[in-house]
Amino acid sequence: MRTYGRDLARIEKDGLTRRLPVRKPDVLEFSSNDYLGLADHPLLKEASIRAIEMYGSGVAASRLMSGNISLHEELENRLARLTGMEAALLFGCGFMANTGLLSSITSRDDLVFADRLNHASLVDGALLSRAGVFRYRHCDTDHLEYFLANRTCRGNRFIVTDSLFSMDGDIAPLRKLHQLSMCYDCNLIVDEAHAIGVFGNGGGICRELGIRPHTVIGTLSKALGSYGGFVAGNADLIKYLINNARTFIYSTGLPPAAPAAALKALDIIESKPCCGRKLLDMAADFRGMIESSGFSTAPSESQIVPVRVGENRKAVAFSEYFERNGISAVAIRPPTVPAGTARIRFSVTLRHSRKDLSSAALILNSINGGR
Ligand SMILES: Cc1ncc(COP(=O)(O)O)c(C=O)c1O
Repeated sequence: MRTYGRDLARIEKDGLTRRLPVRKPDVLEFSSNDYLGLADHPLLKEASIRAIEMYGSGVAASRLMSGNISLHEELENRLARLTGMEAALLFGCGFMANTGLLSSITSRDDLVFADRLNHASLVDGALLSRAGVFRYRHCDTDHLEYFLANRTCRGNRFIVTDSLFSMDGDIAPLRKLHQLSMCYDCNLIVDEAHAIGVFGNGGGICRELGIRPHTVIGTLSKALGSYGGFVAGNADLIKYLINNARTFIYSTGLPPAAPAAALKALDIIESKPCCGRKLLDMAADFRGMIESSGFSTAPSESQIVPVRVGENRKAVAFSEYFERNGISAVAIRPPTVPAGTARIRFSVTLRHSRKDLSSAALILNSINGGR
């Protein structure tokens, strides 16, 4: 019989036990990815309620059966336009989008070159396809180019990267990656989960830079304040995924409230194209406040602001100290981040006031002995 006690004891010994904190209404939240503060926006709630009244609480079938509603297709058209791609396809969540995409478009004849700090769903998608995977050092385009020049295969080659890295808040060298993908005849796949809604007037970092990769992946579950994931690319890719992506085919369509809320989020973002810029300016101010408390926020250049403390238990102690002071700022430990780099991950959102940001920085300052 499989037992779990020994594994759990080891996890506990390493200071890595994960718990499920119940969200408290009265704390100042710094761990949410609701970057634009849209998740409880009255217009999104109203749109969701209307969709539930019209279509019900669930669609109760795969979209290839009876689970396809016009809201799904309307949202796919809007997401394609937002990202500047030809077409888009919704998935149950971003994780399913990544695993469905990579497991279906790559095969054992192919090679995937992946940034070492890519999100787990990109790693798992490539593993499912049994493609050869080479993980290049984080954002190191020389290391990637070494692989590109020396690792060939019978099939296709793919470069896969997050655009904005979720645990460090830094940005992939996308111009160079795009250039390398052209030069070495590779397909560039970019996961814009944390950048959609924030960068490029909502369209992501590729959009901001004027780069058109082979595929863009995104989620509805962060800045768009809803739930679900999507892949955007050319029309043939989307047709291919409808016919091959197992996480799309063998899974129920998104419940009506989710695309309805995301469509409303897109209306809001389009009507306020500067909201992402405002968030990034607030985050830059926050990084300045933290740095003046004697902590480094490197390499963050976005609304995701990590403060590395190194040791697992120390990160948990920091997080608990914040909690005692009315702030939710979660400790991130391995395997989510590399060993020895445990951290507190702050995410700045448009719900924060300047006073909220300085309160968090002041608490850090007090941990550091008020330097
Ligand atoms: C880079 C990245 N890709 C994909 C995902 C998965 O998205 P979702 O939460 O919609 O499953 C996440 C979520 O944390 C992420 O950070």
